[in-house]
Amino acid sequence: MALSVVIMAAGKGTRMRSARPKVLHALGGRPLLGHVVATAEALAPQRCIVVTGHGAEAVEAAFAGAQRAFVRQMPQLGTGHAVQQAVPALPDDGITLVLNGDVPLIREATLRALVEACAGSKLALLTVDLAEPFGYGRIVRTAEPGGAKGHAGGAVQAIVEEKDATPLQRQISEVYTGILAAPTALLKQWLARLTNQNAQGEYYLTDVVAHAVADGVEVCTASAKDETEVLGVNSPLQLADLERRLQRRHADALMEAGVRLADPARFDLRGTLACGMDVEIDVGCVFEGAVTIGDGARIGPHCVIRDAQIAAGAVIHPFTHIEGAAVGAGSLIGPFARLRPGARLGEEVHIGNFVEVKNSTLANGAKANHLAYLGDATVGERVNYGAGSITANYDGANKHRTTIGADVHVGSNCVLVAPVTIGAGATIGGGSTITKTVEPGSLAIGRARQVAFANWERPKKRPK
Ligand code: UD1
Ligand code: CA
Repeated sequence: MALSVVIMAAGKGTRMRSARPKVLHALGGRPLLGHVVATAEALAPQRCIVVTGHGAEAVEAAFAGAQRAFVRQMPQLGTGHAVQQAVPALPDDGITLVLNGDVPLIREATLRALVEACAGSKLALLTVDLAEPFGYGRIVRTAEPGGAKGHAGGAVQAIVEEKDATPLQRQISEVYTGILAAPTALLKQWLARLTNQNAQGEYYLTDVVAHAVADGVEVCTASAKDETEVLGVNSPLQLADLERRLQRRHADALMEAGVRLADPARFDLRGTLACGMDVEIDVGCVFEGAVTIGDGARIGPHCVIRDAQIAAGAVIHPFTHIEGAAVGAGSLIGPFARLRPGARLGEEVHIGNFVEVKNSTLANGAKANHLAYLGDATVGERVNYGAGSITANYDGANKHRTTIGADVHVGSNCVLVAPVTIGAGATIGGGSTITKTVEPGSLAIGRARQVAFANWERPKKRPK
């Protein structure tokens, strides 16, 4: 049966106290709405309609996509009013699944079960039992003889919002998650009948339940696997809480796959991380974008690694930044190293403290162990690049390449002024400024000659 998805994302998010629309706040490095849209699209619906309002332009710009349509809700008169705006864009047959743009961790399997429960004829509500149900809409059921909680157990009669609930109803622990599935034709009829006669003067989507009951349409419920997947984000506090829960999910999945995390509570993944066997990750690391780590590699504490491939056996020492780079097998990087986009390191390469590498290829066994810069360089095998040496790759207008052949030894404090080529096996004396080609096997020295003045007398302090 054809499936349509409506995602409500028009609300103001007052409690975020932010100029940014709530659904654009990031969770796990991705906007809240991005999580919901991705899960919705995994269901391969016929259409996906996002209801925007507050900050509509920014939200629409962030999520423009081929299979998505946006409808505007201006002003925002409640969740029922939000879905009403999508009605013209919905076909008359099939099932409509309504999602909350601020409930980001909902699982695809849970949504499939909900749509299945709807079966094209019932109103299906996703509910969850919460120890602290405050603030949520409560599921009111007919009392069943022998029903343990009085209100629980029987057929669903209505959803009552916190602000409209009686003290007895507020004790109900079964709450509405903000997610439902309904036959589209019936949903349209119920939406047309909503009023705003309630404590908040809003058009509540939740009132469709009472209309379904009045029409004799069965209301069924499906429940979420755990509460994390149905928690909403309304405040920075809740956002941070959900972030930790999401990170714990990531950490658990990695540890189940054999990755050894020093502390799952001090681990952050804002993208994807694929690890081989016997990978160890120390505390405080942040992984962004797409990162892969090979067998036996170790990541020291407090590294930030984004869009990178770290090959087997590599060791990344503490406080290293890696972005858009590839680290070869058995290489040693850091501490305090910075690999920038386009850094391509072969096997057993050593990059030490305060060394920056950008858009450069280093062949197997090359070493730059201290305080150096390699930008736009091609570095041969076993090159030893001394402390304080840099490639002067930028003339103020254009970037130029430096080519360093195999087995070159660059002394300390050298400036290689690009474009320049150093032939294989050459040696560059310390403190040299190299502006011309250096022939293979030669020694090049480009610095002022040392002069000496014998018996030199230092200036003396004038008497007072
Ligand atoms: C809603 C439910 C409540 C449920 C809770 C679960 C209603 C009336 N109440 O309450 O039963 O327990 O979710 O989290 O539906 N939105 C719009 N336009 C509007 C108002 C809201 O698009 O005019 C969007 C918001 O951006 C948000 C979602 O709808 O994504 C939910 O709105 P919110 O105001 O947070 O509803 P709750 O009070 O949490
Ligand atoms: Ca909410």
